[in-house]
This record gives sequence, C-alpha cells and structure tokens, in this order.
Amino acid sequence: MADKGAPLAEDVTEQRVGRCVQRCIMPDCGATYGLRERVYVCSRCDGPLEIICNTANLNGATLRNEWEARSASREPRDLSGVWRYRELLPFDADAPIVTLFEGNTPLYDAPRSAKYTGLSSLRLKHQGCNPTGSFKDTGMTAAVTQAVLLGARTVVCASTGNTAASLAAYAARAGLQAAILLPQGQISAAKLAQSMDYGAAIREIEGNFDDCMRLIQELGDDPSIYVANSINPFRIEGQKTVAFELMAQFGWKAPDHVVVPGGNLGNSSALGKGFEEILALKLMDRLPKLSVIQAEGSGPLATLFGLLDSGATNDGALLPAAMPAVDHPRTLATAIKIGAPVSWRKSLRVVLKTHGQVISVTEQEIADAKAMVGRDGVGCEPASATTVAGIRKLVAAGHIRPEESVVAVLTGHVLKDPDYVSNYHRGTLALDSAAPIVGAFRNAPVRVSATKKAILGSLERQK
Ligand code: F0G
Repeated sequence: MADKGAPLAEDVTEQRVGRCVQRCIMPDCGATYGLRERVYVCSRCDGPLEIICNTANLNGATLRNEWEARSASREPRDLSGVWRYRELLPFDADAPIVTLFEGNTPLYDAPRSAKYTGLSSLRLKHQGCNPTGSFKDTGMTAAVTQAVLLGARTVVCASTGNTAASLAAYAARAGLQAAILLPQGQISAAKLAQSMDYGAAIREIEGNFDDCMRLIQELGDDPSIYVANSINPFRIEGQKTVAFELMAQFGWKAPDHVVVPGGNLGNSSALGKGFEEILALKLMDRLPKLSVIQAEGSGPLATLFGLLDSGATNDGALLPAAMPAVDHPRTLATAIKIGAPVSWRKSLRVVLKTHGQVISVTEQEIADAKAMVGRDGVGCEPASATTVAGIRKLVAAGHIRPEESVVAVLTGHVLKDPDYVSNYHRGTLALDSAAPIVGAFRNAPVRVSATKKAILGSLERQK
C-alpha cells in the first residue's frame, strides 16, 4: 500500500529554477552557474556541468502518488513521460514546454533473448518507441524548451543520426531553426531522411562524428546558437526521467542490473543521475548496477575501464585524468561510432559508483544479438543490441548471475537502419570486406513459384 506522505509544498512544485544551479563536476573546481547562463562546459576549468537542485523539501512518497495520479490526466505535461516528473526537472511550472509526448515506452519480456544470454529472464526497455524512434526525444524536449526560454533562434547538434532527427523534430515544433552537423556518408539513410523531413538545415562534414563535435563546441561560442548535444546538461535532465519511468514499471523495486550502449556516453550518465535522485528520495533502497557496452572498434571507455585498478572508486579525485581517444573509430553500429565521447567522466563515475562494468563487443556479437531481439518480436537498431551482446558476456564472466533481474535499454527502433538488417539476413553484412559477418540467425526471403503447392512445400521445409 503506497504511503500517502505529506502534501506537496506549493513553492516546490511550481517554482524550481531558483533552487537549481549548473555545477562543474570536477571535484577540485565545483564552480556554479545560474540556470539562465548559456554555458555548456565550466568556463573556469572546461569541466563538464551538471544540474543540481535542492530537493530537501520533497517527499518521495508524496511525489510517487502525484506521478501515479497523473496517468489519468489529459493535460499535455502529464501525458509526456518526461514532464510527468516535473518536480525533479529544472523548469518552473509555467515553462513553455515543447513536447511530442515522449517517454511512456514499453518494458518487454524477452524470453528468447534471455535464453540466448544465459538468463532466466530479461526485460527490454524500448526507448526506440519514442516519437522519432530513439531515446534522444526524452532529452530533446528539455533542451529545446530551455532554448525557447533563452530566446535562441538556432539550435545545433553534431550527430550520428538520432540526435539530429530528434532535434529537427522538436525544433520544428518550437518554430526554431535546427542546424545539424553530420559525418558525411556515415549516417543511416533512414535517420538522414527524418532530418530532411522535419525541415532541418543539414550540413554534411568531411570527417567523423568527433570532428563534428569539435566544431559544435566552437559554434557554441556564438550567441545566436544553442547547442543541443548531451554536453548540454538540460538534455541529461530530460533523459534521466527514463530511470523514474523504469522504476515505476518495476513497482519501485530496483532491478539488479541495467545495461546500456555507450557512444558519447550521455545516456548512461543520465540514467545514473536519475537512479541516484530516486535513491535520495528513498523511493528505492539500492542502486541497480549500471553497465555500459561499447562496440569493439569504438570503445575508448571500455579500454580505459579495463586498465583501472580493481579498487577504483567513483571518487572524482581517483578518476583517470584523461581518456585516450580512438582516432579512427570503426563499427557498423554507426550510432555509436565515436572515438572521443564527451561525457566519459560522468559515465565512468556512475559505473564505478554502482559497481557496474564497461566492456566492448564484436561486430559479430552485435549483429547476432540484434537478430535475437528481433526473434522476440521486439526489434532494435544495431547500437541498441550491444546491450544483449554485452549481457551475454557479463553472464559468462559471472558479473551477472542467471537468476538476477536485468534490464537492457534498447535505444533505437529497428527501422532506423534497415540496410543493416537486410544485409545481415541476406549474408552481405561486413565491416571489413575480407571478413563478412556470418549471421547465426540469417533469415533471407525465399523465391518460390506462384503456386499453392510450391508455397506450402517451401514453408514445410523451413519449419
Ligand atoms: N544508441 C543509439 C541508437 C544512439 O543513437 C546513440 C547515440 C547511443 C546508443 C549512444 O548513446 O551517446 O548517450 O552514449 N547517438 C548520438 C547521436 C551520438 O548523435 O544520435 P550515448
């Protein structure tokens, strides 16, 4: 039976901006900035920023009841799976929210994928069911709302495709110009098509994602421009709500493990922040272990993690000072083809705090795991399937026990990269033409004569 808790204090629910600051995460700096200051990194030490709010007046049980009651409401801000949790967001109640009713994504049971990974059960949190088909929407609703509050006219991002599609859609809703920088020829056609359709100004750059990201940081100095990459702490605020939604789906009892793909490393940072906030509100009694999975050819954090002392802790002072970048990242999971992820510190801090792991998986492992998720009738894009491939390895290594409760966060929809899917099933998928990927779960179309007999005979053979 839910504890009713104390009534919400009016000022806490309605006016939050005065209670929050942007703060540098570097332990020897900790500089703070107001919420209306347009900063993306600490101007004193270049460190990453996070948003910290004073939540001393909040009562967890009261909040939980309030959030649950909102499921019966028809108000736009209650229908959004992000703004439903607005007491924990750095916006006042009258903020002009830009929403596409993001969030509210399903949590699926996946028995075939569970068996494949060696678990007795596995849950898939499908963030690909967001309005533009990826988890980016939960962050973009917050970042574009902040852009409107700051009076920005142009919002920009560097992207491997999904951030761009999401920004393009939310900017269109808000009537802002979206300018997106993409590494030429390295984006799935479906994602690029979305950005074109939503009316973004698309600029293809000769170079990779990391080159685009460097340019974004330069462009961010221009006062007419607002940066919507996950370096922007408001993006992280929106994305952290996935932790709240997931916990609500779990009846506020933490799963043992949550596993996410790692690219620019904003998502793992955001989920970790969300879980920590729920723990602080006493809405759960322990943190799930958060593990991050990268593709082998684009895995700088996995490499760094492998070199850490086994006694390493999340104490910032003990974190490595730098993370060697992968100069020429390679993977067919183009969403996470990133060699110099900007949020590595925040992500590593969370993994160490929760006693998770950072590992990498091969192209073959990603491809087969992706097909397995498909066999559960769920489907996802290649980057998302690193989770299932990674869980299989973590079970084999003993980090995850077979009976533990495990959630894989699927970050993108299966239709985000149809060329990859088709190539896998037709046997033409290859990162390296010398070493094609031989799909363990290949399922190519079969040509048959146009007769009932031929069709039935052919179906019989495939049983
Ligand atoms: N999965 C998908 C489908 C993604 O699009 C991304 C990142 C990730 C995982 C990794 O998340 O960067 O927070 O660690 N895509 C970005 C983009 C880089 O531009 O769309 P992360």
